[in-house]
Amino acid sequence: MKNNICRNKKVCMFGVSLLILTLIIGAILGLLAGPTSPITWALIAILVVIPFIHKKYSSSQFVEWKDDYSVGIDSIDQQHKKLLNLINQLQTAVDYSTGEQFEREALDELVDYTKTHFTYEEGLMRDNDYPDFEAHKLQHEKMFNTVREVLEGYEVDQDNAMSNAVEFLKDWLINHINGTDKQYSSYLIGRGVK
Ligand code: FEO
Repeated sequence: MKNNICRNKKVCMFGVSLLILTLIIGAILGLLAGPTSPITWALIAILVVIPFIHKKYSSSQFVEWKDDYSVGIDSIDQQHKKLLNLINQLQTAVDYSTGEQFEREALDELVDYTKTHFTYEEGLMRDNDYPDFEAHKLQHEKMFNTVREVLEGYEVDQDNAMSNAVEFLKDWLINHINGTDKQYSSYLIGRGVK
């Protein structure tokens, strides 16, 4: 995937651990041999910098709520915020070897809450005779079909399925909120929806 440098979590984590261990051993041997070698200090500097690079890379993978995402209806904004949090939880599962149980629970929670949100949003549109209700509902259904494919893929290739799920959901949700969802804002707000 475009933002996923290492596709196989276990191999990637093993490689990083091996690299860090090699750097530590190199630095210790360098210090034992005499702390004057610039190579020794370069190894120590790399070891110090690695956590900062890792933190920066990890945080860049998460999606953060922006006021710009607001549709002007507080109940829906709160649900969108929760969806972003659940996607970030899935990102954590992609970035670390959290285990199959955590991955399945994160996927299930996200799918369940997405259904809850769609049902709520569609209810508001239907109850208020929103003219583009059917087209909007169709987008929700298409999204769910893709999620279903991702879930089927999880049974075949868990690492890739998780990466695919996170990338798809991040892109889809942000685009959907900023595009399709915002189209109902003024209509529903005009009907007194908060
Ligand atoms: Fe907020 Fe149309 O999903």
